[in-house]
Amino acid sequence: MIKAITGTKDILPNDINNWRRLENLIESRMKLYNYREIRTPVFEETSLFSRGIGETTDIVSKEMYTFTDRSGTSITLKPEMTASVVRAYLEHNLGKQYNFLKMYYISPMFRQERPQAGRLRQFHQFGAEAIGSNDPALDAEMIELSYSVLVNFGLKNLEIKINSLGTPESREIYKNELRSYLKSKFSDLSDDSKKRFNSNILRIFDSKDETDQIIMNQAPKILSYLDGQDLSHFEEVKKYLNLIGLNFSVDEKLVRGLDYYTNTTFEIISPKIGSQSALCGGGRYNLLIEQLGGKPTPATGFAAGMERILLACQNENCMDSSGQKIDVYIVRIDQDKESEVFKLASQLRNNGITTEHDYLSRSVKAQMREANRLNSNFVIMVGGNEFKHGNVVVKNMEDGTQVETKFSDINEIKRKLSK
Ligand code: HAM
Repeated sequence: MIKAITGTKDILPNDINNWRRLENLIESRMKLYNYREIRTPVFEETSLFSRGIGETTDIVSKEMYTFTDRSGTSITLKPEMTASVVRAYLEHNLGKQYNFLKMYYISPMFRQERPQAGRLRQFHQFGAEAIGSNDPALDAEMIELSYSVLVNFGLKNLEIKINSLGTPESREIYKNELRSYLKSKFSDLSDDSKKRFNSNILRIFDSKDETDQIIMNQAPKILSYLDGQDLSHFEEVKKYLNLIGLNFSVDEKLVRGLDYYTNTTFEIISPKIGSQSALCGGGRYNLLIEQLGGKPTPATGFAAGMERILLACQNENCMDSSGQKIDVYIVRIDQDKESEVFKLASQLRNNGITTEHDYLSRSVKAQMREANRLNSNFVIMVGGNEFKHGNVVVKNMEDGTQVETKFSDINEIKRKLSK
């Protein structure tokens, strides 16, 4: 038997209810904050991501699904959306039409990571990007917006962590400082961290190795190396978060895994779901648009992993377990009433009434069982003595009452269904 590829997951009919609930919530929250939807292709030219996300990041160096197509172009399935959104923004000259633009997305992403609970190779993100403003209020809005989706979905165990990575210049001074601190500890670092020492030193903060963590806890921290402007931007972000009563903590070890960040970074964590606890991450990326060929344009955004949100929701018992409901199940009492049932179902559906009937030539008893299984509000029985007089029986499944009504009068049937 052919099985789904490792790290991918089917979303089955029984799972859909909660996915839809999440998607509807995302759409309504995005509308409240005035973000407009953008959809981009599932694959892009590889160089977009290697330039956008950074050659030395884990994503680009070891996680991308990259292949050469028949025309010899190197193609990559998108591992994240920010680079694609910026590409579309530049390609369609959106900056000319709007000096400030807020966009959101819901989309599958692809990363060849080692699969585990909350970590997939095809997963779904929703996210937002706002391009054209350096206002710290916008950073705070991103944090509030993403948090509001999580809270309104029913999650309670959430922690907001924020940090600032400053500008590349101040970061460079900090990295030098970190390098000289780590030189004397180099032999104690894990093999992975030794590699990161040369390629991407800040990512040593993400190491799960205990000795690395002890070393990094004592390392110099970035905020002491930011310049006045960066620090006041960070102070403003904190001020806005306090203004709306959002609890957060400053985590100077929050360096994020993508290279494009400047100034504010943040993550929202669900501390109880295990090692893949980051539900959401984002921050400001004031240099990316320029790096991808545009004019210098400040921007900020975030993305959240939808499978992880659902996992956290399962852990916190906030999943909606009510199944799908239908309005009417038509029970065919006499086998030869198939055409009448088919026509009535069509009329009811065209009148906006969710209707189902039997396709398996089941007995009346089995059809009633099916009506119950489908949580049908009403059953309409077509056939029997009533039908000889031109009537059908409408049964209310909640209180068990039943009434007769004329089969040929769809409006009368509708009225009976609304009682
Ligand atoms: P990211 O931190 O790489 O940021 O991903 C955001 C979220 O996607 C993570 O917090 C996590 O919930 C989810 N996620 C990432 N990888 C996986 C995976 N393998 N399986 C399941 N879920 C996963 C970004 O992607 C940036 N583009 C965010 C951003 C937007 N920054 C500015 N604008």
